[in-house]
Amino acid sequence: MRSNQKFFLKSKSLPVDKFFSNVLYNFKFGYYSNVYPFGKKGDFVTAPTLSKLYSEMISIWIISTWEIFGKPKNINIVELGPGDGSLIKILLNISKKFPKFNSAKKIYLFEQNNFLKKIQKRKINDSNIKWIKNFSTLKDGPVIFFGNEFFDAIPIKQFQQINDSIVEKYFILKKDTQIIETFKKAKKSDISLIKSYKVLKEQKFIEFPKSGLNILEKVSKTISRLKGCLLMIDYGYLKPNNQNTLQSVMNNKKNNLLENLGKADITYHVNFSLLREFFQKKNLKVKKVITQKDFLKNMGILERAEIIAKNMLFREKTNLYLRLKRLLSPKLMGNLFKVILAFKFEKSDYFGFR
Ligand SMILES: C[S@@+](CC[C@H](N)C(=O)[O-])C[C@H]1O[C@@H](n2cnc3c(N)ncnc32)[C@H](O)[C@@H]1O
Repeated sequence: MRSNQKFFLKSKSLPVDKFFSNVLYNFKFGYYSNVYPFGKKGDFVTAPTLSKLYSEMISIWIISTWEIFGKPKNINIVELGPGDGSLIKILLNISKKFPKFNSAKKIYLFEQNNFLKKIQKRKINDSNIKWIKNFSTLKDGPVIFFGNEFFDAIPIKQFQQINDSIVEKYFILKKDTQIIETFKKAKKSDISLIKSYKVLKEQKFIEFPKSGLNILEKVSKTISRLKGCLLMIDYGYLKPNNQNTLQSVMNNKKNNLLENLGKADITYHVNFSLLREFFQKKNLKVKKVITQKDFLKNMGILERAEIIAKNMLFREKTNLYLRLKRLLSPKLMGNLFKVILAFKFEKSDYFGFR
């Protein structure tokens, strides 16, 4: 075992979320502090790093939502977990074609990782963009939050229901060399939180995104305060089925969860029914959750592809087609990725969901 693997379990016993938070985000040995993860040469491909068309669709969605909000003079736009900054770069370019939106927009990036922050700053290279640690600084005008593969990157807790009691999964260090899992009695506050969700009632194995929901609590409060919405796209499902969905990838291939700690990315599949119930508890309205394929097609991605393909060489067209296929095919990202929109606003005729 490499010495830094042991480092991730220094305290010898950690719940799943704390352990993987260390593995992914520890400022010294954490995955996101050392590895450039995106693209073919990295460990995984995300939609904005796969295709400009995706970022264009999201940019058009943001601008159309500003129009639905009545073209306010100030609009706050917050990207949650901006990765390598690809999406905002495209939004900035497209904004130039919409002068009123361009002068109304205030763009904020919510990123906890200093290594990625540097990459974002270099790529975006625009002094008007601000990086924020909390949302209380947002003022004047409604807010549009957006996050692609943000929620699935925030470590979750795992619980098991045994008869009437709920136990939490921990990782422990055995004989100072081997990482194994064990279960301990869950905290009372966590048990009552879990029991407050109808969608988790029948589950024997429960994945609970406690840290992620803490962030979404702040997002929801900001939306209620300023009016606005949150659009999130992630790998996930609607019907929970006692799944353990934690997964590890390295070099675009599956990796054993407890191997290559700090060198592989670890994510899980988002429970969209839980998110829907969460937002409803926070008094936000929620659109019917749809697939990435339906959302992008509703936004006109195929028509846009046809237009740009007109002046392309055959080789470029093939490349465009392969990337589109990956985004839209039901067996690839098309159905596996889902889109949720939570909002507080009088109007509800958002593009992409019509
Ligand atoms: C899988 S990457 C997705 C990046 C980008 N949105 C994309 O689709 O290419 C997850 C992003 O969320 C950020 N992130 C994860 N947890 C976070 C947290 N608690 N607060 C802020 N950013 C976080 C990561 O550092 C990274 O930028």
